[in-house]
Amino acid sequence: MDTERFSALKGFKDLLPENAPRWQWIESTVREVFPTFGFSLIRTPILEPANLFARGIGATSDIVEKETYTFDDWDGKKISLRPEGTASVARAYLEHHLHTAALSRFYYIGPMFRHERPQAGRLRQFHQIGAECLGQAGPRHDAEMLSLLDETLRRLHVSGLTLEINTLGCAQCRPPYRNALQHYLSAQQGSFCEDCRRRSAINPLRVLDCKKEGCKAAVARAPCPINHACGACTDHFEAVRDDLTRMGIAHVLNPRLVRGLDYYTRTAFELTSAALGAQNAVAAGGRYDGLIETLGGPPTPAVGFAIGMERLALLIPPDGIPKPTPLLFMAPLGAVAGRTLFPALFQLRQRSIRCEMGDETAKLAAQLKRADRLGAAHALIVGDAELARGLAILRDMTTKVQQEVPLNGLVEGLVDGLANRLVECRIAR
Ligand code: HAM
Repeated sequence: MDTERFSALKGFKDLLPENAPRWQWIESTVREVFPTFGFSLIRTPILEPANLFARGIGATSDIVEKETYTFDDWDGKKISLRPEGTASVARAYLEHHLHTAALSRFYYIGPMFRHERPQAGRLRQFHQIGAECLGQAGPRHDAEMLSLLDETLRRLHVSGLTLEINTLGCAQCRPPYRNALQHYLSAQQGSFCEDCRRRSAINPLRVLDCKKEGCKAAVARAPCPINHACGACTDHFEAVRDDLTRMGIAHVLNPRLVRGLDYYTRTAFELTSAALGAQNAVAAGGRYDGLIETLGGPPTPAVGFAIGMERLALLIPPDGIPKPTPLLFMAPLGAVAGRTLFPALFQLRQRSIRCEMGDETAKLAAQLKRADRLGAAHALIVGDAELARGLAILRDMTTKVQQEVPLNGLVEGLVDGLANRLVECRIAR
């Protein structure tokens, strides 16, 4: 017999039931909050044409150069597992003429794939909650996105975060800044890592983001985009910051903040937590006014962000997560009791009451032990003696107090007589 044992691929993780309530709470909070801010759900495919990311994110970005899972489809076309959601949303926006929607605001929740070196907080399959607002140029929309991010994290009781914000300039002021930066970097080549020596020629802004000590020291005095921003970019940035301040959203200027994706213009931001260690960004985003045009569409300003769900899940305090709802555990003692209770189990579940049924061949003590392990609020016990009297015993699993309930009209009796307690048994939806 083949005894090969399988385990998940490196950097790919199972979400197990013990962590599921945390994830479900995040998702239900997002489904509640994001539509309040005018965002509609969009689901794009996980596989896309490889060129979409090369064009959208930038062929010389680390993500496209080193991290995207790209392979030949059966017909020889190059396809990629999406490394992020923004380029896909932009593609869908163009393909389906979504600019005609009353509000071009979309959100998504789903897996992304990057072939990075796995470490704490960095996976090869991870999940993002993203929001994209297309067709809006004004600074108020940048501030609105940040208010959505702020409110989502507040509802999830996540605290201790730092919002860092910067401006990266626009099509007018970026090229002269890029030249100034390149000029500065050309004098520092000796201090750079191999990657940054290459980057300084093809993608100089990325050098500002290198985490290696030598590179960090070498760019400490490099010119920053904010000092080269044109009047329009400066006004835009000031207006975003002013709105944030007036909404009470704390933020700090980080003039060295740049992003790993090339589509950003003007506002760029990262939300970090010291509790996350080296991979400290829980969410990030910014404005990308040129992306839709790069993908062949008309000039379309846009702004968005994505939250990393695995990192967010780590930051949610355990006592903030709603507890799994209690349930009713049916304990039949023998085949006749089992046959009697089984339809009632179905009828209670049809009323959205969470219930389980024990093994009718097991002893009462074993069944009650299982009810306890499941965290049942009540057990409903029926044996031969109860069947003979047309009754069931309802046991409060916490107080151990028992009461008799008639088997005739059992379901209605349980629903009516225990209205309050059974409300607690309803699954939160
Ligand atoms: P990003 O900064 O590449 O931006 O990713 C956003 C968030 O996804 C990060 O802050 C982090 O929490 C999470 N993340 C990224 N890579 C990993 C990984 N390997 N393992 C675990 N978590 C990870 C974007 O993806 C942009 N599309 C955001 C955006 C939307 N900008 C505008 N609209």
